[in-house]
Amino acid sequence: MKLLEIYAKMKGDINKIENELERVVTDEQPLLSEAALHLLKAGGKRIRPVFVLLGGKFGTYNLNDLKTVAVTLELIHMASLVHDDVIDDAETRRGQLTVKSKWDNRIAMYTGDYIHGKALSQISQIQNKDVHTMLSKALVQMCIGEMEQIRDFFNTNQTVRNYLLRIRRKTALLLAISTQLGGIVAGCTPQQYNALYRYGYNVGMAFQIIDDLLDLYGTEKQLGKPPGSDMRQGNITLPVILALQDADIRDDLLVEIRNIHANGDAANTKKAIQYIRNSKGSQLAEEMANRYIAKALAVLEELPAIPAKKNLVDIAHFVGKRNY
Ligand code: IPE
Ligand code: IPE
Ligand code: MG
Ligand code: MG
Repeated sequence: MKLLEIYAKMKGDINKIENELERVVTDEQPLLSEAALHLLKAGGKRIRPVFVLLGGKFGTYNLNDLKTVAVTLELIHMASLVHDDVIDDAETRRGQLTVKSKWDNRIAMYTGDYIHGKALSQISQIQNKDVHTMLSKALVQMCIGEMEQIRDFFNTNQTVRNYLLRIRRKTALLLAISTQLGGIVAGCTPQQYNALYRYGYNVGMAFQIIDDLLDLYGTEKQLGKPPGSDMRQGNITLPVILALQDADIRDDLLVEIRNIHANGDAANTKKAIQYIRNSKGSQLAEEMANRYIAKALAVLEELPAIPAKKNLVDIAHFVGKRNY
């Protein structure tokens, strides 16, 4: 199922969130507003705000509070993208120039901080200390995850466990708290919002594994961002770790990775990607992503059978098969 079809019934509320996002990132400083609006208007899947809304459906759905939380989550995500594109030296994002390439790194650093500040100001409207605690903890974990990724660039001895811990921090926790906080502000029981958390977490793990596969298989047109950038910068992702366990190609792949590290040659990147594609690594990574999707679907059985549950099922399937 296409994302737009899944979102169809929520279109009205999603539009309100879009308008609010636009209003919130517009402020007196023209360049900050312009850079933030540039990323916002480039689109994106809006998975995190949609997760907040859907989490909220399991309690008392109050669009005002849910909208505030949804806007906060998308803003935190956007800020992390602006900063991530500086670290990754990425030219395009969401099919448009990144903030760092349309302007420069300095402007991107402050645009990210600015969007973060706007997120804080949004969430301060929610008077629930638990919400603030959960959000700030997830943010700290995201930074740890990103930092560990930098520390582990070109480390070909890392384990699958290493990788899973890293993507849990950098990606899955934010998705986990999206569904969870939706449930919390809607007054769900702890049992319900814990289930929402586990759903978001498992989808989030699959989401990043698929993102890492798409980096090896996707095209720039399809992804809206340049593929191959993980390999180029030495980000050893799951398919690579698993490919390195394949005795048939391990040595050849190691040579290419060392060459990329030594001289950053595009031809080596291409070859390395070719080796990974020809290994069992990609297929095994896909199977792991599917297992996370299956876990997410199993968690949903703990939640009442309301229409929103079908949307969560559809999104889990979408994430498992996504190609952008
Ligand atoms: C990109 O997130 C960063 C990852 C966590 C993989 P999305 O794929 O959700 O990005 P947009 O919001 O749709 O652009
Ligand atoms: C996700 O990692 C980035 C964040 C969690 C901020 P990636 O580096 O894989 O994201 P893309 O591929 O640039 O979207
Ligand atoms: Mg990146
Ligand atoms: Mg990526």
